[in-house]
Amino acid sequence: MIDLRSDTVTRPTEAMWDAMRNASLGDDTLEGDATVQALEQEAATLLGKEDALFVCSGTMGNAIATLVHACHGGEAVLDQEAHMANSEGGGVSRLAGLFCRTIPSHRGEMNLEVLSDAIRSGYSRYGEPTAMVAIETSHNAAGGCVQSLDYLAQVASVAHERGAAVHLDGARLFNAAVALGIDARDIAQHGDSVTFCLSKGLSAPMGSILLGSREFIERARTFRRTIGGGLRQAGIMAAAGLVALRTMPARLAEDHRRTLLLWERLRNSALVEAGQYPPQTNILRLAVPSGKAENHVRQLALHGIAIRASGPCALRLVVHRHIDDAAIDAVSHAFEALAGCDR
Ligand SMILES: Cc1ncc(COP(=O)(O)O)c(C=O)c1O
Repeated sequence: MIDLRSDTVTRPTEAMWDAMRNASLGDDTLEGDATVQALEQEAATLLGKEDALFVCSGTMGNAIATLVHACHGGEAVLDQEAHMANSEGGGVSRLAGLFCRTIPSHRGEMNLEVLSDAIRSGYSRYGEPTAMVAIETSHNAAGGCVQSLDYLAQVASVAHERGAAVHLDGARLFNAAVALGIDARDIAQHGDSVTFCLSKGLSAPMGSILLGSREFIERARTFRRTIGGGLRQAGIMAAAGLVALRTMPARLAEDHRRTLLLWERLRNSALVEAGQYPPQTNILRLAVPSGKAENHVRQLALHGIAIRASGPCALRLVVHRHIDDAAIDAVSHAFEALAGCDR
């Protein structure tokens, strides 16, 4: 099977297996685990933050960040396509108790005037102050597109002027950095807190990192315990995470090149609607005529290709370490064959 459902299907590298086998371990919620501590320290230094916390998943990192920002209650402002708004079990409201205000976005970017109007800087008869504004880059629902540094700086400035903290959901932060040709820390500087995932394109079997100030991470550590994320010999997973952090970001450019190649091959396919944006990173979203998406997914599975539908009229294909040039050829040929049958 050529599996393009997500970059989360990536398997550990041999170096990760070796590191896991040889990791020095402790109990991370008792005396501490040296490998987890090494990963947290290295991530914080790399991303230019005071401290970091190893967590089970991106969703857990985002939930803990929200719990910390929500210590005085209030509201959260997110774009309506944000993963945190749509795909994380409602944690912003359900766990952290923030009323969730979502505003429209285009290719992952909220209009700054609309954003400014949505942020409440104090109590009013209509609501509580905004505790957190969340941003996402690369942006999953917007087809892996990457927000400019200028946009991120402006969001941070609008939020801070009005007294709100900024959380950056950087599940694919390194994809964004590679696409812009900059250090990940240049993006991370615009979030008071930042999450990134080791388990996606970086190929670790599990784990994400939450970053922030020392005080923020101290509080986050308590909330990690609250929601059952206190791990024991977590160094086994952190060891793979260290290898991921050290060796995998640079190769993401290869995934981006193949995603663009796939787009060039598929954009004129009779299955796909015209006028698609070229992908900037490793996620390709293709618009298809309404109601066709699930059918295309089923048909492609018969050709040994696994993809996902995003609603009735879009397909999502995600390129990762196990997708080589031959796989790109095979996917293009399967689309051609399907288009022939569809005519
Ligand atoms: C933008 C974004 N944020 C957060 C997550 C959640 O990550 P996890 O699946 O590790 O909980 C994802 C997962 O795909 C994502 O795309």
